Amino acid sequence: MQVTPEDITAVAALVGELCGVVLDQSKGYLIESRLAGVAKEAGCANYTELCRMARLPNNRHLQNQIIDGITTQETLFFRDGSPFEALQYKALPELIDSKSGSAFPKRIRIWSAAASTGQEAYSIAMVMHELIPDILSWDVNILGTDICDTAIKQASLGRYAAHEIQRGLQPPVLSKYFINEGRTWRVKDELRSMVTFQRRNLLEPLTGLGPFDIIFCRNVAIYFNAETRRDLFNRISDRLAPGGYLFVGSSESLGDLGPRFMPQHHCRSVFYQPNRRPALVPA
Ligand SMILES: C[S@@+](CC[C@H](N)C(=O)[O-])C[C@H]1O[C@@H](n2cnc3c(N)ncnc32)[C@H](O)[C@@H]1O
Repeated sequence: MQVTPEDITAVAALVGELCGVVLDQSKGYLIESRLAGVAKEAGCANYTELCRMARLPNNRHLQNQIIDGITTQETLFFRDGSPFEALQYKALPELIDSKSGSAFPKRIRIWSAAASTGQEAYSIAMVMHELIPDILSWDVNILGTDICDTAIKQASLGRYAAHEIQRGLQPPVLSKYFINEGRTWRVKDELRSMVTFQRRNLLEPLTGLGPFDIIFCRNVAIYFNAETRRDLFNRISDRLAPGGYLFVGSSESLGDLGPRFMPQHHCRSVFYQPNRRPALVPA
């Protein structure tokens, strides 16, 4: 089904409203390759009609199919490597130290926002297992959220194909944390029990979430416009505990968002502590 400039305008408006992803006129190929099947299945003659139908009341299912089709779920275990080193060798040890005298020294809450099919959340769980030998006696929850229904379903199952496993996992890690079930690999229960998943649209209010000690929000805001991105990182930071850590994608920098987002460089990676109190200046 061939896309016209009017179709692109209609799809871009709908997708922008539904999930914030920006599509310009150069994205005709993307619409054709990802939404032709959805349009055909819905009995639409073109993409403009598909958008009209998706806007009808009670057409949530069609809206979700469009979101699932247009969003990019590209991810892998331990993506970019160095953020997980900064997590293991800097953020988590510092966090554990800072909690040692508190009422809940063993409680840790982490959010993988835009978790896709779950590899990021499970990578965080593996780091915690490696760092904290008695992790199963700790009160840890890693929440993974994403707007894409099918991604969240796979993440919840914790089941991955060989090509997904081969991306980012070394053999010793694989045999330690996964069970082979023929052509797929399943996350072991001890890891699975640390992670929960739910569908969440980051454009919607983040009510009921947090406070978190650490948030990973990587490789999603790159699809948004400047205003949505600024608003997202500020709202997400409001869900962080004082001194909590924010990790973003390696191609993303929050330097333009103001003094709240001072980059901190550790282990060849960068994180932010947007709610950290400024250090006291000696008199
Ligand atoms: C490229 S993946 C990033 C996955 C992972 N964070 C990583 O860095 O490997 C981007 C994810 O953002 C999700 N996404 C896009 N728009 C979203 C929105 N408005 N709310 C929540 N998730 C969204 C997509 O469904 C997709 O799974």
